[in-house]
Amino acid sequence: MAVLKVEHLTKDFGHGRGIFDVNFEINKGEVLGFLGPNGAGKSTTIRHLMGFTKPGQGKVEINGFDCTNKPQEVMKYVGYLPGEVALPDDMTGAQFIKMMKAMRHIKDDRYLNHLIELFDLDYRGSMKKMSLGEKRKLAVVVAFMADPAILILDEPTSGLDPVMQEKFIEFMVEEKRRGKTILLSSHIFSEVEATCDRINIIKEGSIVAEVDSADLKNEKQKNFQLGFTNPSNLAQAMSVFDNKKIVQPLVLEVTVAKERISDFFKQLADLKVVAINERRFNLEKYFLDFYRSDKVFEEI
Ligand SMILES: Nc1ncnc2c1ncn2[C@@H]1O[C@H](COP(=O)(O)OP(=O)(O)OP(=O)(O)O)[C@@H](O)[C@H]1O
Ligand SMILES: [Mg+2]
Repeated sequence: MAVLKVEHLTKDFGHGRGIFDVNFEINKGEVLGFLGPNGAGKSTTIRHLMGFTKPGQGKVEINGFDCTNKPQEVMKYVGYLPGEVALPDDMTGAQFIKMMKAMRHIKDDRYLNHLIELFDLDYRGSMKKMSLGEKRKLAVVVAFMADPAILILDEPTSGLDPVMQEKFIEFMVEEKRRGKTILLSSHIFSEVEATCDRINIIKEGSIVAEVDSADLKNEKQKNFQLGFTNPSNLAQAMSVFDNKKIVQPLVLEVTVAKERISDFFKQLADLKVVAINERRFNLEKYFLDFYRSDKVFEEI
């Protein structure tokens, strides 16, 4: 069942900027990765989900509530971590946590304490003196202390050091295991790979690809590259396999369904193959193609 729906969402900022007819859904317990180059429209889409921005056209819904007209209903279910955290400078971390707890009517501190320990948060000092990473950790703890069922994360690990990034991935994996629904906007492939069930790629305001992580990780099929010493051996192999392509002059890449792997190795026995290599899928390589811009500099 879809708990989060984005339908024909359009917000035109002019000059080709904005988001245009964006559609997707996230089912309960699913983790959706939201990837795309800088300026693609990730934060704009997310801001609509949080009710901060009114759609030009289309609508956004969470748990059946319209995010634009009923943001206060939506907030009951959602923990949101913005891309840029803005915290009040004139408070200590402890005062801020206390204020947010009162606002959200949080009475039980157990989950809050768990998060403070997990992220090793020192909340005692004034926020003015906190480093970027410390502020980020404080924002993480405050965003999730109510243990919300839906997490909306806009580049959650930016500004965190590698150890904390790892911790955050652990946190997301654990939240997923606990049945949370997550929208994760990110540029970090390792966190996407570790957590997401599906990935949507947005470019210049439009969704350009929707992929299933299992397909990407070759969980259903494998690719092998076979090397040959001469063209006639290669030609013989070409006639044996269905799903193949020549990737270098004497290298053939063959795609094999998981359940046909043993047949594939039997077929290999009759061929004159000199090298065999499993080509493991590289998420980063795949996505970089979407990131590369075709734009050239136009004189002003
Ligand atoms: N309030 C606004 N007014 C005008 N243009 C805007 C506004 N907000 C965003 N834009 C433009 O809309 C486009 C999408 O911006 P958005 O912040 O959603 O990108 P993003 O995918 O989150 O990028 P990044 O990875 O850099 O965070 C950009 O071209 C941006 O300049
Ligand atoms: Mg953004």
